[in-house]
Amino acid sequence: MKRYDQLRNTAEEFGQEHLFQYWESLTDDQRSLLLDDIERIDFKTLAALVADKHADAAAIDESKIEAPPVYPHKPADEQLDLYAEALKTGKSMLADGKVGTMVVAGGQGTRLGFDAPKGTFPISPIKNKTLFQLFAENIQNVNRTYGCKMPWYVMTSSATDAPTRTFFEEHNYFGLDRDDVYFFQQGVMPAVDDAGKIILTEPHQVALSPNGHGGSLLALRDKGILEDAKRRGVDVISYFQVDNPLVSPADPLFIGLHQLAESQMSSIAVPKADDLEKVGNFVSIDGKIQIIEYSDLPDTLAHARNPDGSRKLDAGSVAIHLINRAYAEDLTGGTGVSLPWHRARKKVEYYDGASSTTVQPDAPNATKFEMFIFDAVPLANKSIILEQLREDCFSPVKNAEGVDSPATSRRDMIRRAAKWLEACNVNVPRDGNKDPQATIEISPLRAISAMQLRQSLDASLKINPNDEMYLD
Ligand code: UTP
Repeated sequence: MKRYDQLRNTAEEFGQEHLFQYWESLTDDQRSLLLDDIERIDFKTLAALVADKHADAAAIDESKIEAPPVYPHKPADEQLDLYAEALKTGKSMLADGKVGTMVVAGGQGTRLGFDAPKGTFPISPIKNKTLFQLFAENIQNVNRTYGCKMPWYVMTSSATDAPTRTFFEEHNYFGLDRDDVYFFQQGVMPAVDDAGKIILTEPHQVALSPNGHGGSLLALRDKGILEDAKRRGVDVISYFQVDNPLVSPADPLFIGLHQLAESQMSSIAVPKADDLEKVGNFVSIDGKIQIIEYSDLPDTLAHARNPDGSRKLDAGSVAIHLINRAYAEDLTGGTGVSLPWHRARKKVEYYDGASSTTVQPDAPNATKFEMFIFDAVPLANKSIILEQLREDCFSPVKNAEGVDSPATSRRDMIRRAAKWLEACNVNVPRDGNKDPQATIEISPLRAISAMQLRQSLDASLKINPNDEMYLD
């Protein structure tokens, strides 16, 4: 009863006592479920957000926005020594066990419309390996190459946690040591209606949803990941998202540049596909790097050109970062984390007492709150950006069809495999559009770079149009 009293008092204090309106009709199990949900709510933060409706809508002073400094993917002559030194540094940090890797896999994947966690989506062009398997094999390759045991922190949410763990169990952790794979759940935020009241989806269930990928910072602290990383001697955490099969979970050059620049949080950028591409835009404001979402970037800036005609703001974010453990500790050192909240109007199902049913609304009826990881970039004392080519590092699975879909992602995996083979002097047949005419898949266990592929490639390899070629 103590838990009930406490939670009910808190709900009343914050004007959310309606959460208990069906209490009398609930079974014991349902009561306990409801209390579990209510216990997860940060009432104080929510009250502040509801009271201050425009808290996160900071105005952008266009005149201050400049293009940020970027390390190019191909170093200039005067940078060759720096890049060579960075590569060496990154490799030795990996070998010394100073790097851990983290995937955020708590999203709801609504656009893809896939029922299970997105990491379990089959994506590779021939073997249909899932996203999780591709990452696991890539990590195994890193471990083998550098003689390390890189920990892999997998952030889940209430919806993805159990099925993700089961999936790894069923597949024997894809060959990784299970002690090096650590699952942790992110926090939640409730959805509220227009009056700021928390929505119930059932008499015993609160409309809770994951608190955004920025919630990973608090979860790193609250779920003991930062401690685990410290115990293992991990100084840098490599952050990536679950939807991108081209990502390198640990890229030695990136790690080395980050380290040599004494950066606290670094990012990968790709040249934008077009002015209005739906990616975050790297900018520099008063010397600080930050990311402005495409939806917040004024059109004039999106279209702005340099004197040579090139795009002024051309660095698009692909959600790949390096975060120092010490920086994550600093950011989460107090009671919370000082990232801003972003609000979004969404359709959220709600329980209707009059009809005793759960209603699916036709139009947005609720506000959801999320934190974004990239808001931690401008809070860093030092931050760098490394440019990479999109074809090498980014082809996310977001939508069921069209752009950023399984079809484009598979196509890009094949294109990259073809590019690596050609870099090893293997002839790949191409059609009139220069697309590979064969389906090619390279296992990450075999190679995670063209250079590594070269070490094991049979010089007599022939690829014919319409071949299916799996290199394991
Ligand atoms: P997206 O913003 O693309 O969202 O997440 P999503 O949930 O995958 O897909 P939609 O928007 O519902 O269609 C980018 C990355 O951030 C993770 C996702 O799992 C994905 O790796 N993420 C997002 C979280 O881990 N937690 C969140 O609360 C939100």
